[in-house]
Amino acid sequence: MSGTIEEIRSVIDGLRRDGTYKIAPVIDGPMDTVVKLKDGSELINLCSNNYLGLANHPQVIAGVSKAMEKYGYGTASVRFICGTFTIHEELEREIADFLNMESATTYVSCWNANEALVPTLSDEGDTVISDELNHASIIDACRLCGKKVQRLVYRHNDMNDLKRCLEQAKNSRRKLIITDGVFSMEGDLANLADIVELAKKYDALVAVDDSHAHGVVGKTGRGTPEYFGVSVDIITGTLGKALGGAAGGFVAGAKPIIELLVQRSRPQLFSNALAPMTAGGALAALKLLKNNPQLVTQLRENVEYFRNGLKKAGFEVIDSPTAIVPIIIGDTAKAIKLAEKMREKGILITGFGYPVVPKGTARLRAQISAAHTKPQLDKALKILTTIYRR
Ligand SMILES: Cc1ncc(COP(=O)(O)O)c(C=O)c1O
Repeated sequence: MSGTIEEIRSVIDGLRRDGTYKIAPVIDGPMDTVVKLKDGSELINLCSNNYLGLANHPQVIAGVSKAMEKYGYGTASVRFICGTFTIHEELEREIADFLNMESATTYVSCWNANEALVPTLSDEGDTVISDELNHASIIDACRLCGKKVQRLVYRHNDMNDLKRCLEQAKNSRRKLIITDGVFSMEGDLANLADIVELAKKYDALVAVDDSHAHGVVGKTGRGTPEYFGVSVDIITGTLGKALGGAAGGFVAGAKPIIELLVQRSRPQLFSNALAPMTAGGALAALKLLKNNPQLVTQLRENVEYFRNGLKKAGFEVIDSPTAIVPIIIGDTAKAIKLAEKMREKGILITGFGYPVVPKGTARLRAQISAAHTKPQLDKALKILTTIYRR
């Protein structure tokens, strides 16, 4: 065997030795509040992004089937060659209307949407300004801009530091501030009202990735702009979490921005369009959310119930309007071990450690769904508390 492969094997052995090698469960059924594993066991699911319980919802499945019947399985093409279907147009119109934006375009993931947006919108003489805790896809998207674009990073949610960046970018042609709406590891929100105010002062564009906010944050689940009562220039998001849970991402914004992305963004020019059946599922999920805002209220009630349960049991929990509840453990190996113990007792929860989160802040991350029942949440709280105390 080549030395290179041996070297790689030793990296993997190292992960096993220090207890950070992760083994994901193999699921043999739909993604729901209870998942069935390949070995037949069933676990209460506390770690999916299925915030509204739509990943296996009959109306969403019907949307998928209807789209598959009409359009078949795949697009077999990138959009600009022969890949735009009427269902893409319908979905994009629905997304733009839902978010109160002029236009929208879709990608096969939000990872692609972010990687499409930032480098396409930024050129020689421009500046991109990013929160230090932004999602990896935004960090990589900024890196893709290369050296011709000034890239600045501000301390997490620190408006003085953002101001410093805006001052530094004062003479740039175009300034783009990009932030997660909900930070996925902390479960906190971007200071969007202050960001928008600063952006106005410095004539910068604001882009928000609301992947963990759509269907969750804001009175009707329209995300962080709704929560803060502000408007932003650009919104990106995923269709792989609350909005159906399969796959897909989008950018919504003013028509010229979307037109530029359609004309120039590399993930759309060089990669297949979203599968029509996935578009059909997402469309059904979006309509469900629009017509049933009580789903968002139900989710909020469940999150509050779970957070209060944790607080009563003595856990330190940060209050936030998101459905992400991090439980800080500290040591990566310990967090992973705790997650394994939880799994043995019937709870699926993930332990996150370095490099996903900073060293020393490893955690269990619980994610709550509108579909969780109170008995499920009670059982999860009981097991979590017993194992943590031990
Ligand atoms: C903030 C944020 N942006 C983008 C993504 C990527 O979304 P997708 O799975 O659609 O690529 C995620 C997924 O974890 C996310 O949390």
